[in-house]
Amino acid sequence: MEALATSSPCPECRGDGYRVEAEVQPGPGDGEGRRARAVARVCSCRDRCPHCEGRGFVYTSRQVEFSKKVGMRSYEALTACVCRLLAQRVANFAQVGIPAHHATSSFSTFRAKGDDQEKTAALEQALGVARSAAQEWRRDRPARGFVLSGRVGSGQTHILSATLRHLVLERGASAQYREISLLFADIRRGFNAGKSGGEISARLVDADVLAIDELGRGRGSPFEMETLDELIARRYNSGLTTIVATNFSLERERSPSPGPRGFQAPAQALEEREDLLVERIGERIYSRLCEMCDFVSLPARTDDFRRTKQDGRPTRRLVRPAS
Ligand SMILES: Nc1ncnc2c1ncn2[C@@H]1O[C@H](COP(=O)(O)OP(=O)(O)O)[C@@H](O)[C@H]1O
Ligand SMILES: [Mg+2]
Ligand SMILES: [Zn+2]
Ligand SMILES: [Zn+2]
Repeated sequence: MEALATSSPCPECRGDGYRVEAEVQPGPGDGEGRRARAVARVCSCRDRCPHCEGRGFVYTSRQVEFSKKVGMRSYEALTACVCRLLAQRVANFAQVGIPAHHATSSFSTFRAKGDDQEKTAALEQALGVARSAAQEWRRDRPARGFVLSGRVGSGQTHILSATLRHLVLERGASAQYREISLLFADIRRGFNAGKSGGEISARLVDADVLAIDELGRGRGSPFEMETLDELIARRYNSGLTTIVATNFSLERERSPSPGPRGFQAPAQALEEREDLLVERIGERIYSRLCEMCDFVSLPARTDDFRRTKQDGRPTRRLVRPAS
């Protein structure tokens, strides 16, 4: 959130006014609550709000034309202070469900640098698409979404998390993050509890922004696929922003793999076909995504960020903003 006019930015939050961290004690819960997630906290530098001295509201001067005869009059109105907005955004952020591992994933911790120019250009493009979606979003004019495709470890969840972080904490959007297998599990649970598809996905239908991660992974049951289709259709009809990551390919036509002329093993042919996102999620969902989203591919990473983190050796370059 925009820094208040202070002399030097706080070293803890760099003037953002909040910090994002992994939830230390995952709460008890309904299955959702048990998963460790990223949460935000208002930074201690904002404990004493210089604008409202903790009251939560400020007086602002408004000008209104009461009538032609009386003309313009100004009056003092009570409005919520920025500190209250920040507290609300921070509370909303915990509800998004961003995995705890991605608490440090932001636009500034994403390195758009590949081993060669082509990879760097692809990383920059993906970051650019996500960044502009996040920055251009307004509640009365939702941004176009995007579909990121890439191999495991290429930074897809990082970019989804960074986009949600910006939208919720900097723009005040409401958002939900779901990995597809967990989304299907939620649908199954709802189905077993006798709920309709609409009831099950109500929260995901209404969020300003929905992120679906790992789309195409696992085969949903007919009811799960139908509910997913309905969810995306309803978001499409409401013009809401949907962002997606997938390990499957976006290309419709794949060039045949190099090999002996006229020979292609049946198993390989099947594998090639199954690589396509459209084959995994069906024409209907795919074509709606084409209407709602820009499609971007991430290059595979050779310096494996995931392995570096799992080794437990925190790498400074992952958390330091690339200024
Ligand atoms: N370009 C990048 N810059 C900084 N960190 C990255 C980048 N790409 C991946 N990472 C980090 O590597 C790990 C794996 O990335 P992740 O986004 O989870 O991959 P996936 O594409 O499988 O979703 C995460 O910790 C992520 O923050
Ligand atoms: Mg991922
Ligand atoms: Zn601070
Ligand atoms: Zn205040």
